[in-house]
Amino acid sequence: MKLKHLIAIVLFSVAGYNSFAQYNNLVIPDTISGTTFNLNLKDTFKQFLPGNQTVTGGINSDFWGPTLLFNKGDTVHMNVHSYMNDSTTVHWHGMHLPAVMDGGPHQIIPPGTVWQPYWLVTNQAATYWYHPHLHQMAEQQMTTGLGGFIIVRDAEEAALALPRTYGVDDIPLALTSRNFDATNAFLCCTRAYGDTGMVNGTLHPQVTLPKQYVRLRILNAEMERGYNLGFSDNRSFYIIANDGGLLNAPVSATRIKLLVGERAEIMVDLGGDAVGSSIDLVAYNAGQEFGFGGGEPSATGNFGSLLNNRNFNVLHINVGATTAGAITSVPATLASNTYLTTADATVSRTVTVTDGTPGPGGLPFQFDHTLYNFDTINKTVVLGTTEKWTVINNNVFGHAFHIHDVEFKIVSRSSHPVGAYEGGWKDVFYLQVNDTVTFVAKFNDYADPIHPFMYHCHFAPHEDGGMMQQFVVVDATGVGNTEKPSGDFNLYPNPAGNKLNISLTDPAMQVYYITITNSQGRTMCMLPRPQLGNGIDISAYAPGVYFLQLTDEKTKQSMIKKFVKE
Ligand code: C2O
Ligand code: CU
Repeated sequence: MKLKHLIAIVLFSVAGYNSFAQYNNLVIPDTISGTTFNLNLKDTFKQFLPGNQTVTGGINSDFWGPTLLFNKGDTVHMNVHSYMNDSTTVHWHGMHLPAVMDGGPHQIIPPGTVWQPYWLVTNQAATYWYHPHLHQMAEQQMTTGLGGFIIVRDAEEAALALPRTYGVDDIPLALTSRNFDATNAFLCCTRAYGDTGMVNGTLHPQVTLPKQYVRLRILNAEMERGYNLGFSDNRSFYIIANDGGLLNAPVSATRIKLLVGERAEIMVDLGGDAVGSSIDLVAYNAGQEFGFGGGEPSATGNFGSLLNNRNFNVLHINVGATTAGAITSVPATLASNTYLTTADATVSRTVTVTDGTPGPGGLPFQFDHTLYNFDTINKTVVLGTTEKWTVINNNVFGHAFHIHDVEFKIVSRSSHPVGAYEGGWKDVFYLQVNDTVTFVAKFNDYADPIHPFMYHCHFAPHEDGGMMQQFVVVDATGVGNTEKPSGDFNLYPNPAGNKLNISLTDPAMQVYYITITNSQGRTMCMLPRPQLGNGIDISAYAPGVYFLQLTDEKTKQSMIKKFVKE
């Protein structure tokens, strides 16, 4: 690039960002509600910039995916169809569910197949999300745009006078950034931070919000950058929810830090603003402590970005007319969570951040000098146990620590007292440099000796680089892995039309997993713990020979039977 152009870009970005005249209207993702959710993952494209379209990954859309509305207590059924060219996974971040449904690196969805997990929603009302989790491909696949929000609703939240009209006074905001190359393609994955910010896939976004209290459900969907958020007039706002549920009471703040993967729901009062006026949601990222992702001073290079170590606008908010039924105050109390304490824990563990030496021959970040290995179970948790995990980081840089399966309570931090802003149920936290963070979690409900849950740094380059480990939750009563399945199974009718039925010769036998492959060995569908009452829908299959592999729940032994589709 010619120096003249480089200077023009730098000047534009320094002088121009705050006064960017041409805003784009914020995309509000569509919603899906009910108990059956059809998600179609595909390689697609979107017009981000003048000229070439950008190749993207979309879920029922050209970037990002629909917001899934779950009700606590419902059993939700997902039909995840992949029309992509590469294998992927879809992880339900923050959901408490069986590991075989979790969508971590082990629940691979090959191209052209459907994966059908389902689970009982036990999470509290809050903002969750879903995203790919294929090992060493997470950054690349998330960069394309694959992901989406999950909003859980429950009776406790519904009883409160909170803004909850989606897209009107209740707005999901997925904050991220990208780098485009000269042909408008996304650049991945040599630079950790994008030069161009976006919200819900909208560049330079603006939104009109009503003159009243509005609720923003903010997700840091970055690869590595942190956000220190506030409003351009420094007004206070209320934090009402952390990652995994409402706080007991709203917490007043003028700034909130969100690291990668973290969510916060905030309420901000626009009731005193004139209709037609505007304010900005701003990332006050200048001058952060060392180790805050995106605080590095450089504008270029692998850890540089035009947005680094500076304040930049995230979302331009225009104030519009008050709506009927406007929320005009914040409830004084929100929830009655009883949090876990250190005294509840009967098992203690430590995890220490190691390695991460920069430069040629340097090692990637790891936990306890152990890189992620697909076949290694790093920790075994006994079902029903409350555990205290201490995560130690006296090393090189900050991180965003995340664990699957549970929402936890942070009980101590060495860097500063645990703030009220992070006093609720969490599943990701900011692990600063020279910080030791202790959390307490209870591992209930889902024992599975085969499929592990992950814990990892949510910085995608760190996760992909091996800063991830896995644990299984086992039932203390144990399972015998050497016995034979108690029964056999039959497929009928065979040949089959649109439905294939399974009968088990021992009614006590339970099915752990079913995989159907065609005669070329291509996977057609994966059914974790299938409910077999209505048979399996094979109407989309071409006529021919197929193989159904059934894995027994108790022994985890597999049996294969052939069937013919007419
Ligand atoms: Cu948001 Cu292991 O993931
Ligand atoms: Cu990290």
